[in-house]
Amino acid sequence: MTTDIVILAAGQGSRMKSSLPKVLHAVAGKPMVKHVLDQARNIEQAKLHVVIGHGAELLETALDGEQLTFSLQKEQLGTGHAVAQALPNVDPEGITLILYGDVPLTRSETMQQLVNSATKGHLGLLTVHLQNPAGYGRIIRNDANKVIAIVEQKDASQEQLKVTEVNTGIMAVPTKLLLEWLPKLSSNNAQGEYYLTDIIAMASEQDVSIETQHPACEQEVQGVNNRVQLAELERWHQLQQAETLMLNGATLADPSRVDVRGNVSVAGDVIIDVNVVFEGDVVLGHGVLIEPNCIIKNATIGDNTHIRANSVIEDSTIAANCDVGPFARIRPGTQLAAGAKVGNFVEIKKAIVGEGSKINHLSYVGDAVIGKNTNIGAGTITCNYDGVNKSLTEIGDQVFIGSNTALVAPIKVGSGATVGAGSIITKEVTENQLAVARGKQTNLSNWQRPVKKG
Ligand code: UD1
Ligand code: CA
Repeated sequence: MTTDIVILAAGQGSRMKSSLPKVLHAVAGKPMVKHVLDQARNIEQAKLHVVIGHGAELLETALDGEQLTFSLQKEQLGTGHAVAQALPNVDPEGITLILYGDVPLTRSETMQQLVNSATKGHLGLLTVHLQNPAGYGRIIRNDANKVIAIVEQKDASQEQLKVTEVNTGIMAVPTKLLLEWLPKLSSNNAQGEYYLTDIIAMASEQDVSIETQHPACEQEVQGVNNRVQLAELERWHQLQQAETLMLNGATLADPSRVDVRGNVSVAGDVIIDVNVVFEGDVVLGHGVLIEPNCIIKNATIGDNTHIRANSVIEDSTIAANCDVGPFARIRPGTQLAAGAKVGNFVEIKKAIVGEGSKINHLSYVGDAVIGKNTNIGAGTITCNYDGVNKSLTEIGDQVFIGSNTALVAPIKVGSGATVGAGSIITKEVTENQLAVARGKQTNLSNWQRPVKKG
């Protein structure tokens, strides 16, 4: 059975005080509405619909390439009206699940429970008990404890306001019933809106059973209205991810000072010190040690590798037993083989560094292939760019490049070769040669220094 998932995202979100539509504000580096879409995709036979209004064009651009249909709600006349905008695109024989673009952390397991209720012909309603229910629609039950209605805060009596079970807004409904009920909504209420919540009373009147489910925790149904709530949800989510890392075998110096903006997998005995930010897909091998203030994005780091403080690593693969940093910048396309060493103030870009090779101090190595057990001296620069083209530097095994060498690419230095310090290498150096390309030293004896007059 098709599950049409309708995500409401037409509201303005004026309390965000932002030119960006609210649902595009990020939690863990990803727009809130994308969190919702990613979870929704886990539902079997899901078809996704996003109802847009304020900032519609920005949303269409941001979600370009996602498998979904947009429905434009020109005027925001209420949640019932919003859902109705998507109905022309849904399968009347299926299930409709209603979600919210500004409620980013609802898990697909929770969504699935509601879908299961609707598959059986019931109305699946997600409710939660809150100590302070102010502002929410209240769940009204009869003496037999059956749900009979939802009453919005602004329409509720004193008695109804005492109810602490509230509507999260998230529900799943057999689509046939939704098609029947939505046209019957009226805006005759305190806010003059077409309330989606009024379908609950219609269901009750028609003896459609209303099955309530609860989320695993409040944060799963927490909406974001302002940046304070955004930050609260971000911190909560980050703590959850930190816990997952710890349970999977990582020691965190401070679980509140690691941020995961993507997916991090850890093998056992990983140690992560404070203020480390992970982005994209990161894989950390057994025994990896990461010192403070590192940013690691889309990288695989092998067993027992040590990333020292203040290093930035992006789109790179670092093998086992490597030593990187402090203050290293590893740019996209870098591959460090086992036991390679990259020290302080070294920038590496699109380079393959062979097993056991070392680039320990103050170097730029870009567009290069370096063999095994080669030593690149302090201050070595690959001159890979002539202003138009990028060219390759190829260095063999067991090469010794003296300090302050400039390698003008395209250039090759064969295995076993030695380059004298301070050289500017423009011609190929073949195996086992010594190349020295610098001004000859002149020594003058008995040199008289200038003396100050008067
Ligand atoms: C709604 C529920 C309330 C529930 C609460 C949970 C209704 C009538 N009330 O109230 O029972 O406790 O959510 O947070 O459904 N939206 C549109 N188009 C519209 C109106 C709203 O896309 O015309 C979107 C908003 O952008 C927002 C969501 O729907 O993401 C909820 O709308 P909002 O007006 O905030 O509903 P609440 O008053 O909070
Ligand atoms: Ca709301």
